[in-house]
Amino acid sequence: MTRRVALVTGGSRGIGAAIAVRLAAEGADVVITYVRSAERAAAVVKEIEAAGARGLAVAADSADAGALVAVVERTVAEFGRIDIVVSSAGIAPFGPLEEVTLAEVDNTLAIHARASFVLAQAAARHMGPGGRIICVGSSFVERVPYPGWTLYAMSKSALIGLTKGLARDLGPRGITANLVHPGSTDTEMNPADSPEAAEERRYTALDRYCSPDDIAATVAHLAGEGGRNITGAAITVDAGTTA
Ligand SMILES: NC(=O)c1ccc[n+]([C@@H]2O[C@H](COP(=O)([O-])OP(=O)(O)OC[C@H]3O[C@@H](n4cnc5c(N)ncnc54)[C@H](OP(=O)(O)O)[C@@H]3O)[C@@H](O)[C@H]2O)c1
Repeated sequence: MTRRVALVTGGSRGIGAAIAVRLAAEGADVVITYVRSAERAAAVVKEIEAAGARGLAVAADSADAGALVAVVERTVAEFGRIDIVVSSAGIAPFGPLEEVTLAEVDNTLAIHARASFVLAQAAARHMGPGGRIICVGSSFVERVPYPGWTLYAMSKSALIGLTKGLARDLGPRGITANLVHPGSTDTEMNPADSPEAAEERRYTALDRYCSPDDIAATVAHLAGEGGRNITGAAITVDAGTTA
């Protein structure tokens, strides 16, 4: 991926941070976004630089479409190009259906679905052949194993249509679009040592959580030369939860 430039949203922690560092290890320069964790985003930039790549952290709320377009434009202005975009920024709204507010619905759809659309649209304006658009979904689009996750599952399901549509819109230009669905993955969103984790682990076929690096490895494959003929696809990395 030498001389390629990647933009990863939600790169300050968890899965997004692992993806950013992995793409850097494979030679890409990487811009990450965050919304609150400035210090941790700076630490991820240090890791990107330690891998020999150029890094930049930009505060950009994925709920703010204008901020996302601005970060794409800044990436192109400062790094000269954009080849890979990964929408990983996410939240985990959870609770009784009757308590979900319209504001939560709008915010979740904005961060998960609208942001992925806006980012893809803005980046595609600058991408050449070999461009890669990758979204981080969830195994909950295939199976919702517990109550309380309707909004989250709905917001991630939109990424299936987005990915397939993008594959058709951008395929003629040699740009691929794909979706990676993590299952239970050990991050602050879903720690492997939480009280609920034992039950989540029990639902897997392999009796284990995924690590952020597991998800990053699949994203790196899709982003690299090995992914050149994969487009419109969804790959589930969930230790067999949906098997
Ligand atoms: N962990 C799991 O079990 C699991 C399973 C399936 C899917 N996923 C998906 O994987 C993705 C990453 O999750 P994770 O587990 O790594 O979560 P995490 O540890 O909570 O990290 C979330 C990341 O997203 C960023 N973020 C949150 N809201 C944002 C916003 N409005 N604008 C920009 N950035 C924002 C955070 O930035 P700050 O640090 O600044 O807050 C942080 O970098 C999410 O899309 C999630 O839905 C996770």
